[in-house]
Amino acid sequence: MANRGGFSSKLGFIMAAAGSAVGLGNIWGFPYEVGQGGGAAFVVIYLLFCFILCFPVMVTEIAIGRKSQKNAVGAFDYLGFKKWNIVGKMGILCGVLILSFYNVIAGWAFGYIFEMAVGNFDIANHFSEFIVDVFKVGAYGLVFMATTAYVVSKGISGGIEKAAKLLMPTLLFLIVSLVIYSLTLENAMAGVKFYLVPDFSELNGRVIYNAMGQAFFSLSLGMGALITYGSYVGKDDNIVTSAALITLTDVGIALIAGLMIFPLIGYMTEGAMTDVGRGPGLIFVTLPQIFGTIGGTLGAVVGTTFFILLCFAALTSTVSLLEVPVSYIVDEKNIKRSKAVWLVAGLIYLIGIPSLLGNGYSEYFSNFITYVGAESATDFLSFVGHVANDTLLPLGGCLIAFFAGHIWKKANLDDELAKGAPGYKGSFIQKYLNFAVSYLAPIVLGTLFVLTVLGTFFGINLF
Ligand code: PFF
Repeated sequence: MANRGGFSSKLGFIMAAAGSAVGLGNIWGFPYEVGQGGGAAFVVIYLLFCFILCFPVMVTEIAIGRKSQKNAVGAFDYLGFKKWNIVGKMGILCGVLILSFYNVIAGWAFGYIFEMAVGNFDIANHFSEFIVDVFKVGAYGLVFMATTAYVVSKGISGGIEKAAKLLMPTLLFLIVSLVIYSLTLENAMAGVKFYLVPDFSELNGRVIYNAMGQAFFSLSLGMGALITYGSYVGKDDNIVTSAALITLTDVGIALIAGLMIFPLIGYMTEGAMTDVGRGPGLIFVTLPQIFGTIGGTLGAVVGTTFFILLCFAALTSTVSLLEVPVSYIVDEKNIKRSKAVWLVAGLIYLIGIPSLLGNGYSEYFSNFITYVGAESATDFLSFVGHVANDTLLPLGGCLIAFFAGHIWKKANLDDELAKGAPGYKGSFIQKYLNFAVSYLAPIVLGTLFVLTVLGTFFGINLF
């Protein structure tokens, strides 16, 4: 077998996987999902998903990857279950879809660096015009995709690991500073209350499906990204503790990002909390306003730095998204990494063009599809998000768990997890993971998958 490369250290893997997990999903997606999902009740459901259901799926993905040393498709072949490689193929499709729209949002964030640098805080009031300027934002997206491709072409330890190690801690520092700032503003507490005091009367099927999709998306699960990263992990790494650290980091950063945004909204709405359900534009509208209140050069410096770091967080995620199809092609089709990278990246950029046009520029893609029973049409970008994040990822998670529990068999999972973790066998966590992959995750995720499809696309809401 050709030398596939690998992470140079335990910390390198954790940082890269956490880098994959922490991205736009945490800082852009999580606050807007919380806003649309009615606040703290969404947060509670989201946390339950992350720790109870997603964590076991994460452990399983990494174990399958490390055992097989293969990409998301080849892993199932290697373990001797060729038919199951359909799960990997679905994952690759999902990665391609996600990256196609993710790159569009990353392009917006990239463009905001320049807007903030010149102190254009007023862009908050012109966001809808900004995103219809498709040649400009399309060019930003192109640069972003090219940067992603460049990092991936450098391979595992040279590119992905190095970038993640440096940038993740810096981002955390800046967000925490902004949390402290936003908490000092007037009416900040109205935002904190909305965010942290649950009102379960807000809860319905939609909130639960979105929380599930958000949990999988944010943790980079259900599409083989962590099978792929797991394939570069050393045999003496402790998978369970690594996965725990990755989950805690990801959830922690999402929670902190919420603590940054909602007090700001409290401040801007004078405590009325009227503007929280704004949707995908939330941070692109809220944050510039707040950098504007800092004002002057300092506001511009903070704003510019923030969007630079957001782009880096997005980059460590886009890199992992691109790595999934690339490692498949490199392993299975014997194409050179550098060639595979540019080919796939170019293709995904093209697939993303309807998502770019569907934000007001093209009538057709902006009102792409009206689901059965829905009052209004859904734009292309949101449609892809519903298909990939909310539907395919949980389905992938369900199948991966079922595979480990019943096809590959628990004993093999246990053996793999015990490597690098001497006390694993016989521990409580072993018993829990066995139960989760065999029963809990397949049943709960399978049921919710069916309910999500019925509720989202066919207007049949069973609760
Ligand atoms: N977890 C990333 C985020 O929250 O931004 C998005 C993502 C990356 C999803 C990699 C899936 C994936 F495989």
